[in-house]
Amino acid sequence: MRRIRSLMAMVLLCAVLLLLVYSNWQIDMAHTRIVSHEQSLAGSFVPEPPGEPVWKPMEVAVVPKYLVLNVTVSENFRKFFLHNTAYWSRLLHAFLRQHDQSHNITPPAEWKECREANRELLKTNVHDFDTYPDLHKDFLRMCHCRDPPQVIDQPKKCTSDGDGTFLLLAIKSVPSNFLRRQAVRETWGMEAVYQGGLRVRTLFLLGSSSDMDPDLQPLLEFEARQYKDVLQWDFHDSLFNLTLKVDAFLKWTWSNCPDVSFVFSGDDDVFVNTLAILEYLRALAPDSASRVYVGQVISVATPIRDPKSKYYIPKTFYEGAYPPYAGGGGFLISGALLGRLSQVSTLIPLFPIDDVYVGMCIHALGIAPEMHPGFQTFDVEENNRENMCVHKKLMLIHQRTPRQVKWLWKGIHSPLLIC
Ligand SMILES: *[C@@H]1O[C@H](CO)[C@@H](O)[C@H](O)[C@H]1NC(C)=O
Ligand SMILES: *[C@@H]1O[C@H](CO)[C@@H](O)[C@H](O)[C@H]1NC(C)=O
Repeated sequence: MRRIRSLMAMVLLCAVLLLLVYSNWQIDMAHTRIVSHEQSLAGSFVPEPPGEPVWKPMEVAVVPKYLVLNVTVSENFRKFFLHNTAYWSRLLHAFLRQHDQSHNITPPAEWKECREANRELLKTNVHDFDTYPDLHKDFLRMCHCRDPPQVIDQPKKCTSDGDGTFLLLAIKSVPSNFLRRQAVRETWGMEAVYQGGLRVRTLFLLGSSSDMDPDLQPLLEFEARQYKDVLQWDFHDSLFNLTLKVDAFLKWTWSNCPDVSFVFSGDDDVFVNTLAILEYLRALAPDSASRVYVGQVISVATPIRDPKSKYYIPKTFYEGAYPPYAGGGGFLISGALLGRLSQVSTLIPLFPIDDVYVGMCIHALGIAPEMHPGFQTFDVEENNRENMCVHKKLMLIHQRTPRQVKWLWKGIHSPLLIC
């Protein structure tokens, strides 16, 4: 009896031992799997064999490209944005320090987590935060948030017809502006292959409408299926969120249209002479074609300190002048700059004014904006606003209604027009 009992005890003990060993092995396996996944994310877990180090290509498909920063920040930029006490400057220099030390940068927090986390942090860092207008408070709470989730995508935009894209028109719009988008589609934003095989493609960049507005989402989804030219991200489409939109679009284009020659970024209420732009771009020497940042340049500008202004910037947020930048109504950028631009933007804290922000990023790449008189983002003289010949010579004119856009487009292409 006793023997049987001790035999049973032995069997039990063995079973327990076996179970222990097995579960340990399971944990080990799981651990190994996680680790190797992480290591493959880092892209370099295979130990180098002794002897000649073997260069291995990075796994670009897995590594979000902007985390490995392979970009130098220009000396001129560093001189322009010397360290000062304003919050934006302190953030910038913290990012630059991290980058200078490791050439990597901590990725921004997940979209869902970046907001509330820094509320207390803001009060600690911006002593008069409570006196900021609500919009600015809101911007600051969100200013570590990047990469908003995408709601409507066009992943095949640049590959659908095989041949490359010469000019991508990226037009900032908001969900409710159906009429403006339609006018652009029927006129200057028409997708086509122009003379000399220059292919033009069009995208409208949208955020989402607020919960207070009527729900336009079903209509918008219909529009996107119909025209395949709508990109939408899940953030409230407002003035101070335009920077987020531009940033998201730059990264989108880099991943989805890496071969695009030029990008036009502009508003949905401007008039653009697409042919004049194509002619200008086609005539560029290869050297300058790879570093285009052209538009109506605002070369000396400082922040507006009047709290009632739409563009008010508090002193404790940003101090000093703005770098020269091209007015956001419409400007051109080389496709060749998109990779470096998306990377360097990770080092530059978001700024509430989107065209100033693009100017900052380009400045960091060591490129100066070029003024072109064809870009009239503040409109032409009153008595020339109906003059077709004036419009035929220009590239972009500020603010026209959808009707005016159609009328102008017809006019400048009329065979009867003699200038
Ligand atoms: C880094 O930059 C160099 C030179 O600009 C380029 O040749 C190289 O391909 C880049 N590497 C990555 C990973 O982007
Ligand atoms: C920007 O979008 C986010 C996400 O929808 C929103 O919470 C925030 O209020 C917006 N910011 C501004 C300044 O409108």
